[in-house]
Amino acid sequence: MHKISLVLATNNPYKVLEIRKILPKSFDLKSLKDAGVTAELPETKGTIKGNAVQKAMFVWESTGIECLADDSGLEIENLNGRPGVDSAFYSGFPISAERNMDLVLSELKETENRRASFVTILALIYQGECYQFEGRIFGVISEEKRGNNGFGYDPIFIPDGQLLTFAEMDENAKNTMSHRAKALQKLKGFFESNRLS
Ligand code: IMP
Repeated sequence: MHKISLVLATNNPYKVLEIRKILPKSFDLKSLKDAGVTAELPETKGTIKGNAVQKAMFVWESTGIECLADDSGLEIENLNGRPGVDSAFYSGFPISAERNMDLVLSELKETENRRASFVTILALIYQGECYQFEGRIFGVISEEKRGNNGFGYDPIFIPDGQLLTFAEMDENAKNTMSHRAKALQKLKGFFESNRLS
């Protein structure tokens, strides 16, 4: 069977592994390096969705190979959706997850509404079309940091229906319910329903 080439527009090797596990074997998945992309991917659109699509279009235009890009962030209700697209560098540079969490906790001090969600948008350029798949997990921001697993805001996010923060859960538990897992499941469903698996 003819293999379909797809570039994974991420520099994060962990994400490449996660995506490789999910996509059908009929895909020849290339890293940015394999595809010869050395330029930094643009992320200037100001929204998570905009950035995911921008990265995918950039790779498609520079390689001519179909591709998949992702962008994620934490949206907090009482902060009007912030840190959102600025999640990685919410408290400035150099990037520090600890400082980002401290800022969120101080902004929510004595706030009753601590509702938040993590969101991932996957943007797929495939057969001349751009498809988007959204995964979201709702929860609350804890009163303090708890746990050592994971990354980013994991120590302050408690998913709905759970007592533990993402950073207190083992990796597998987080990976079955996370925003990224949900977006990837939708992507998988897309390929299955198009009989590409
Ligand atoms: P990215 O677009 O996947 O690189 O995510 C941007 C930023 O959102 C990360 O640097 C983290 O600060 C935050 N983030 C995204 N996903 C997660 C997660 O699963 N746990 C904790 N923080 C996350």
